[in-house]
Amino acid sequence: RIPLLIDTDPGVDDALALLMAFNDPRHRVVGLTIAAGNVGLRHTVANALKLCEIVDADVPVFAGCESPLLHPARDAAYVHGQDGFGDTGYAPSTREADAEHAALALLRLSHEHAGRLLLVALGPLTNVALALKLDPTLPQRVARFVVMGGAVSAHGNITPAAEFNIAFDPEAAQIVFSAFPSFELVDWEAVLRHGLAHADVDAWLRADSPRARFYDSISKQTRAWSADRRGERWHSADALAMAHALAPAGALKLVERPVAVELDGRHTRGATIVDWNRQTGEPDNATIVMHYEQRRFERLIEAALAAH
Ligand code: BDR
Ligand code: CA
Repeated sequence: RIPLLIDTDPGVDDALALLMAFNDPRHRVVGLTIAAGNVGLRHTVANALKLCEIVDADVPVFAGCESPLLHPARDAAYVHGQDGFGDTGYAPSTREADAEHAALALLRLSHEHAGRLLLVALGPLTNVALALKLDPTLPQRVARFVVMGGAVSAHGNITPAAEFNIAFDPEAAQIVFSAFPSFELVDWEAVLRHGLAHADVDAWLRADSPRARFYDSISKQTRAWSADRRGERWHSADALAMAHALAPAGALKLVERPVAVELDGRHTRGATIVDWNRQTGEPDNATIVMHYEQRRFERLIEAALAAH
């Protein structure tokens, strides 16, 4: 099975992505490295541990950086709840995070699974950037690197031009994008093209499984928020990125281009700048997933929720 390492900031959509990963027979989750992002690190770590308990997985969880490299954190609790998991007051897992720092664990696991590792980043890229600064040879050992982040035509979700994961820590994202010679990018605009009908999600959540019940409860608040603001389709960014990571054959249109992150800019800090016309002479670093098979995406979610 392909070793899968997930850097994540759970987060309601991260949780769905994790359920998908744990349910995939071709991949084995070898660790979760935890970022601050949607909410503070204390909560994202607790949420990751809880999710492992729900799926009965004894996977190591490593806490990472508490804040972005340079500037103060700005979270997304208004989407995910104050605790990042919909403020349901769930009973915390009794397990604790491992003592090793996420960036060090990432490097160690990249050695243990050199040449085979699938790395998936579902949150701000602080831990991955730190790992790269400690050891710039990291990309040589990663077989595939899938990133959820960015807005390739500057249709942002946290500012007019920027997507949350990148805007949370733009310096980290730029360090990562310039260090990896190739990565696969699932951006916010692709997510907008792959909305899920609330009626379908509701039906999948009625599955008779502890996973569906748990996910129903932690996602209730954000699904209502989204139905209010974004209409009849629900957008689960990290789930789409995970679908592509687990089943890349579902990608229908891929575009390779140089992608960089805007670090200044009064209106554009944190924007992902795609060199569509290849004017910079920079090498193509990103393979952008423009379209993914909707049916395959939905099947992966449905199966992940129904699993026992
Ligand atoms: C991304 O930001 C977070 O709120 C989500 O978990 C996802 O990773 C979407 O912009
Ligand atoms: Ca996330």
